[in-house]
Amino acid sequence: MTVERIEKVFLILSAAMLVVFLAALFYSSSVMGLHLPDREEEVPPAEVRETAPFDELGVHQVGAGEYEAVFLGRAWAFEPSELRVPVGAEVTFVATATDVIHGFHIEGTRLNAMLIPGQVTRVSYVFREPGEHLIICHEYCGLGHHLMYGTVIAEGR
Ligand code: CUA
Repeated sequence: MTVERIEKVFLILSAAMLVVFLAALFYSSSVMGLHLPDREEEVPPAEVRETAPFDELGVHQVGAGEYEAVFLGRAWAFEPSELRVPVGAEVTFVATATDVIHGFHIEGTRLNAMLIPGQVTRVSYVFREPGEHLIICHEYCGLGHHLMYGTVIAEGR
């Protein structure tokens, strides 16, 4: 094969890859409905504690096998600092920050999100095994950042 031919093959391959990637992007956004997190749910930062669902912090059952764990991130604690959730249930963590940007990672799970004042963060998870998981703030939020942690306890029903 001549150099020109090889070059042509690579050009066609790269063009084909672009088409495949664009098609995948289009498919995932239009057919599967996947999209980046959006400003779907907002909450006035000054009135967080008076606004549902943050007027009732903690774990609540919302359906058959479905729970919501509502908590706040503030300098420098998670409120409540302990969340007890049932093993095997779909738990949606609903959270926001009251002052500055915080983050949370629940150790041993894929849950990792930011807590932004004014915006509501929702992520779901099913704990398959009983156990204790640390919730760690992973956005630098000031002097006490390293002291900001909580616990999720997954326990049998
Ligand atoms: Cu909150 Cu770091």
